[in-house]
Amino acid sequence: MDKMDKEILFSRDAIGRRVQEMAGQISDDYQGRELIVIGVLKGAFIFMADLIRALAIPCKVDFVRIASYGAGSESSGKVVLTKDIETSIKGRDILLVEDIVDTGLTLTYLVNWLKERNPNSLRVCAFLDKRKRRKVSFEADYVGFTIEDGFVVGYGLDFNEQARFLPEVYILKQEDVEVKE
Ligand code: IMP
Repeated sequence: MDKMDKEILFSRDAIGRRVQEMAGQISDDYQGRELIVIGVLKGAFIFMADLIRALAIPCKVDFVRIASYGAGSESSGKVVLTKDIETSIKGRDILLVEDIVDTGLTLTYLVNWLKERNPNSLRVCAFLDKRKRRKVSFEADYVGFTIEDGFVVGYGLDFNEQARFLPEVYILKQEDVEVKE
């Protein structure tokens, strides 16, 4: 699939404004503290880069990597950690940053896994939330935009590794999503 049939959902400006608002809220909530921000690769890297640069508080960064979507748009339901964090999080304030919450399986797994390392606090910040698709109940503490069902790309989110670099968020037309490569 070389050319994706897609429609714009969120412009650069709309994303920029929302990320600033989220960073403002997080900065207020963590005033006087230092966060460890953990991004979920690969999807969260662009959102996280913008978010932390808009924070008014200091932070350190780390990443985990999860394999759940191999190809296409349907989750296998199986979450595998393929890259661990490199920072000790015991007694620290942690903000886990994810591109999108869909079934909720990935974040449920990651939150449980991080809690075992005894952080002082742990909150989740997701750029997008597809609430209606949950397979397990999961609430992120900070959400950029709530969206309806449909597959979205851009601003870090991909479809078979394509379209991550786009600065806007697009929704794919159904025919494209059904194409399995
Ligand atoms: P969950 O475990 O089903 O909540 O899935 C979370 C992961 O699925 C995200 O980190 C994304 O990598 C991927 N994902 C879910 N929906 C979309 C989408 O619409 N576009 C791109 N990736 C998605």
